[in-house]
Amino acid sequence: MKQNLAINGGPKTIDKNFAWPIYDETDVDAVAEIIRSGKWGNPDCGDAVEAFEKEFASFCGTKYALTCVNGSVALRLALIACGVKPGDEVIVTPYTFIATASIVLEANCVPVFVDIDPDTYNLNSVEIEKAITNRTKAIIPVHFAGQACDMDAIMAIARKHHLRVIEDACHGHGAEYKGKKLGSIGDAGCFSFQSSKNLTSGEGGMITTNDEQLYDMMNSLRNMGRVKGGQWYEHHNPGCNYRLTQIQAVLLSNQFKRLKEQTARRHKNGTYLNSLLEKIDGIKPLARGLGETLHCYHIYIFKYDKSKFNNLSKVEFTKMLAAEGVPCFMGYPQPLYKQPLFQKKNFMCYAIPPEVDYAKVCCPETEKACYEEAVWIFQNTLLGTKEDMNKFAEAIIKIQKAV
Ligand SMILES: Cc1ncc(COP(=O)(O)O)c(C=O)c1O
Repeated sequence: MKQNLAINGGPKTIDKNFAWPIYDETDVDAVAEIIRSGKWGNPDCGDAVEAFEKEFASFCGTKYALTCVNGSVALRLALIACGVKPGDEVIVTPYTFIATASIVLEANCVPVFVDIDPDTYNLNSVEIEKAITNRTKAIIPVHFAGQACDMDAIMAIARKHHLRVIEDACHGHGAEYKGKKLGSIGDAGCFSFQSSKNLTSGEGGMITTNDEQLYDMMNSLRNMGRVKGGQWYEHHNPGCNYRLTQIQAVLLSNQFKRLKEQTARRHKNGTYLNSLLEKIDGIKPLARGLGETLHCYHIYIFKYDKSKFNNLSKVEFTKMLAAEGVPCFMGYPQPLYKQPLFQKKNFMCYAIPPEVDYAKVCCPETEKACYEEAVWIFQNTLLGTKEDMNKFAEAIIKIQKAV
């Protein structure tokens, strides 16, 4: 039976190229028009940048939206603008991309890792409260894979302890929690437009907020510390040049026209794939129905139980599934706190107290997700057809029967 597997030279279950990014001549024309205009950047002729910011704010239902160079910088600007001081603690998840935690270090603050909820892989709100000390200043919940965090619980904890909430919505374009767009619930929401993201211009970032003071500070930090009404060579805050170009903005505006339909399609296909995979012994899609009224499936994640696959390791399983034609990945190989950056404390900042020792951190649910369970399928595949979803399930069943 094993010879039948594509990894051993057998036929693939699905042979399809799931293109990303998706574009047409309207994208090319929009960019060409900016190039011909000669107005490529600079805040003085950034009308395409401002137009996209207005569109995005209105879409998210926030007063403001501010573009910047990438999602990491969006998080960094939001955290610094919240007024954190060296040595302050910021609660983060260990099941995320490095930027969620490394921007905390860059702000001279201490990342405090709190474990994930095993059903959703998002921050566990019960564990958040246990981790709060008198030095805690902010929480950065990541809407991982495009699934909303438990925002009611997180906002209630934040209000009780006077903490700022910065939503890492870098996976969450267009997704919703109880009808509200992700990025519109906390003090600020941060988005990435890097090439793999559900809305992309190759690189780019955005911060949404309803708080005027935060907006003014982030705007200043993004623009070399300049302030509204100030001179060009007048600098008030320790900012840098984090501005987006007109070329990126106009591409984003055009791509943005497709986001609503694409999000609905991913949501529909993701929900359908759940109904197929939950019937397979040893496969469990992440839990739904916890307030996420619209899931944008930046990643489709399911849990894998090797005991139902003749003890085949997750790594071997994902290789076999990829060979069958399902674009998938084993996800993060280890929790963030296990990265050499944290284990060796290679920090270029001086406010981390000596007693902070990441070698002692253990978040069992994150370890289980990384080492044993989590399998990722990429967002562009969820733009496929119902038949493609059937094939994904078929490929898993084929492997289970063969091993
Ligand atoms: C959860 C999360 N946060 C932040 C970022 C950083 O975004 P960028 O790559 O645009 O800096 C990413 C990027 O992959 C991410 O996945």
